[in-house]
Amino acid sequence: MNRFEDKVVLVTGAGGGLGKASALRFVEEGARVVIADIDQERAQAVADEVGSNATAVKADVTNIDNCKSMVQTAQNTYGKLDVVFANAGIGGEKTEFVEMTIEQWDQVIDVNLRGMMLTCKASVPALIDAGGGSMVLMGSSTGGWDTILGSGPYMASKEAVKAMARNLALELGRYNIRVNVICPGIIQTKLSFRQGTDDPEAWEQFFDKYADRIPLRRVGQPEDVAATVAFLASDDARHITGSSLLIDGGQTLQSWSNSPDETTYP
Ligand SMILES: NC(=O)c1ccc[n+]([C@@H]2O[C@H](COP(=O)([O-])OP(=O)(O)OC[C@H]3O[C@@H](n4cnc5c(N)ncnc54)[C@H](O)[C@@H]3O)[C@@H](O)[C@H]2O)c1
Repeated sequence: MNRFEDKVVLVTGAGGGLGKASALRFVEEGARVVIADIDQERAQAVADEVGSNATAVKADVTNIDNCKSMVQTAQNTYGKLDVVFANAGIGGEKTEFVEMTIEQWDQVIDVNLRGMMLTCKASVPALIDAGGGSMVLMGSSTGGWDTILGSGPYMASKEAVKAMARNLALELGRYNIRVNVICPGIIQTKLSFRQGTDDPEAWEQFFDKYADRIPLRRVGQPEDVAATVAFLASDDARHITGSSLLIDGGQTLQSWSNSPDETTYP
């Protein structure tokens, strides 16, 4: 498929995980991609892996000037911007509400919600200039469908992204800009593996434990998310806007707390 031939795509947080996998997918389908990340080295490494159709830029999505400069990089390097995947996000420290500090709350909301808004704020004029386009925002299955102990700010940020996207979709339809949210369940990346070790055995054990509790009996892979992002960003989804799509192998169909042992799981 060459759905993104002649398209210019910006991916935030593209230095690893889901952003990287999506950037690779876009390029595979013909796009030229701007790889934005707060970590310059990670962004450059991905751009080097992609080759001549990618440009790396250091950008912190909580800073509007950084957001404007990643959009400018797209326009200066490739002449326009057609697609934005606003993916950058953090998990934050797990702390229950009673112990949580205001700073911990602010940090997660700042990156996951305000950063998403700033990415859109900086990108929309460029998309309008291009005659329209598509934005895919990163949500999460958690927050709307279930929750995790000690992750209050994360849940709040991801649900708020869905509300913001519906509003953007309503207001931007007249400019031929579509806005959708993806809501992944647990996906095999560093963010979901918060164990502070790179030991491959620990990594495997951690994710295997989840696979047993997911109806499709597998943990999602970054490529699963990338395929969905590419679909929503492409003309195949030309009549889809304001939607949010679960990518979770059925993880949220039955609350895990209602099925404490595997035998009660279908
Ligand atoms: N992995 C999962 O299970 C999962 C599930 C649902 C949603 N998500 C969401 O997907 C997104 C990506 O997650 P991931 O698993 O690939 O994480 P990851 O930690 O592997 O990658 C995130 C990238 O974002 C970058 N980043 C962090 N703060 C930034 C900032 N302020 N500005 C720009 N870049 C920044 C990091 O440097 C990193 O390269 C996040 O928004 C996360 O909440 C992940």
